Amino acid sequence: MSIAELPLTSPASAGIDALRDWVDEIASLAEPAEVVWCDGSLAETDRLTKELVAEGKLIRLNPEWRPNSFLARTDPGDVARVEDRTFICSLDEDDAGPTNNWRAPAEMRSELREVFAGSMRGRTMYVVPFSMGPVGGPISQVGVQLTDSAYVAISLGTMTRVTSAVLDLIEAGQPWVATVHSVGAPLIDERGIRHDDVAWPCNETKYIVQFPETREVWSYGSGYGGNAILAKKCFALRIASVMARDEGWLAEHMLIVKITSPEGRAYHVAAAFPSACGKTNLAMLRPSIPGWRVETIGDDIAWLRPGPDGRLRAINPEAGFFGVAPGTGMNTNATAVDTLWGNTIFTNVALRDDGDVWWEGLTDQAPAHLIDWQGEDWTPESGRPAAHPNSRFTVSAAQCPSIADDWDAFDGVPIDAILFGGRRATNVPLVAQARDWKHGVFLGATISSEKTAAAEGTVGELRRDPFAMLPFCGYNMADYWGHWLGMGERLGEKAPAVFQVNWFRKGDDGSFLWPGFGENARVLEWIVRRIEGSAGAVDAPIGLLPVPEELDLAGLDLPGDHVEALFHVDRDSWLAECDLTDEFFDRFGSRVPAALRAELASLRYHLRA
Ligand code: GTP
Ligand code: SPV
Ligand code: MN
Repeated sequence: MSIAELPLTSPASAGIDALRDWVDEIASLAEPAEVVWCDGSLAETDRLTKELVAEGKLIRLNPEWRPNSFLARTDPGDVARVEDRTFICSLDEDDAGPTNNWRAPAEMRSELREVFAGSMRGRTMYVVPFSMGPVGGPISQVGVQLTDSAYVAISLGTMTRVTSAVLDLIEAGQPWVATVHSVGAPLIDERGIRHDDVAWPCNETKYIVQFPETREVWSYGSGYGGNAILAKKCFALRIASVMARDEGWLAEHMLIVKITSPEGRAYHVAAAFPSACGKTNLAMLRPSIPGWRVETIGDDIAWLRPGPDGRLRAINPEAGFFGVAPGTGMNTNATAVDTLWGNTIFTNVALRDDGDVWWEGLTDQAPAHLIDWQGEDWTPESGRPAAHPNSRFTVSAAQCPSIADDWDAFDGVPIDAILFGGRRATNVPLVAQARDWKHGVFLGATISSEKTAAAEGTVGELRRDPFAMLPFCGYNMADYWGHWLGMGERLGEKAPAVFQVNWFRKGDDGSFLWPGFGENARVLEWIVRRIEGSAGAVDAPIGLLPVPEELDLAGLDLPGDHVEALFHVDRDSWLAECDLTDEFFDRFGSRVPAALRAELASLRYHLRA
């Protein structure tokens, strides 16, 4: 059979023989020079990092400052997720919905067959078995990623649990998700001529493809973050959201924290904020108010399902953080800074003359000289950022000083509250509570947020990002809202309370009204007191707002008009926002659940009252 005739089908999703056949099939398509099975061991990671350093693909940082840590610099055209090259290939176009790029599966398969043919020539193909969630856990899932990038293989080793034990589970019949990745830069061309490698191989043409029905991912042309670490957004959100719809659970773009009150009572909160809108920060929060404690469980993804007691339980399916570097400093996220003491891969940050790293916001004052993320000399007068705005760190979660003891509990943790947030300069108050689950789903479904550098595109542009899942929902967003409403019915009285938060409201002078970061603990305090039933609320058209005296602002030195502005509900601009919500809902036609249309009607009614 010639390469062009290869079937490129999904593996029968069970059994070790199916896995071996699939590895052979991809190898004969992509033609790597060799195939290496990974076991996630320290020795393996050490060997691969040494190889990457020798090839000039990683720079070893000064071990005195940053032991066992490395810097990678990407191609300037490969610095973020590529949403316009991300495809959901469901059988039925309507199942992908208007917010996803859809392609017919058969057509996409033949297109992929062409781009993957010979795409790994001269490179090693790594076979990386991984578990999302604790290995063998009841909420966990397993997968295998094939990749021709050692950088991706070791990143996967930090972000997930890579172990041969996964192969035993597959052998025993556990279903697994098949993911294939190539940077699309073969070292030997069609004529058999060998080319030199580059520090960051990639291809201008990129494909990030999900086949939800067969639970497969194919990624081509990028080595960066969510484009390439397929266990993360592609599997744990896009594919998992479809599994969750089919099986009655939730796969969400949410952090998870454990909050302990001064009385010693513990609560668990999950929060959905769009990319680069503060999940890592909230996940590692150091409360500014005495007596409160926040511990980290996850910073990006949560899988939630009703437990035997009928309450919603959540796990963090990941094992590491792929966090935004800029804006991470001792004043904003000291816990993250402490986490990064060593054993960290930095991508696209600046290099100091002493062999350590730097990025905007790490220290108040920039070093006098740096090598910027593109390898150029940089001084504070250069007039451009030294670190790319979407530069990131990859580090193990277990190394985080605020990690909770039960962060990797088999059965997850019970969720008491769910928060929805976004980056909104106007309209959305600092905090509001949803009146009930349905209202909470409406708040989630209507999130708007200013775009950040986490994805290619225009930073600052306001766009709808429902449930912070716009780029990550593997099926029709309106059906997803319906699924959330259904989950609420199932959870009934035991459903978590729902809140909306906004740390990013700005005053007339364009500066943030709220100090944010550790001070966000004041908002968490009010949320906990609401769960406990001890704090009051004022019924406003958009939701339940804190009784002014009950939000602890002592010692903050906030001007009174700032406080007022943080909670101001401008009826006209909210009514205008309602019109935009109508237009947004119309994009989904009759698939929008009636309950959400009813919520919108009720909001308008209250705003006009
Ligand atoms: P992804 O990993 O892309 O999903 O993003 P994330 O939500 O984890 O983003 P992260 O916590 O890394 O936040 C990104 C940016 O938001 C950083 O530059 C932070 O400094 C900034 N940020 C976080 N919390 C606050 C806050 O409370 N106030 C303000 N003004 N900025 C914040
Ligand atoms: C995000 O963009 O939401 C991220 C970073 O968490 S990435 O893994 O690149 O998608
Ligand atoms: Mn994210």
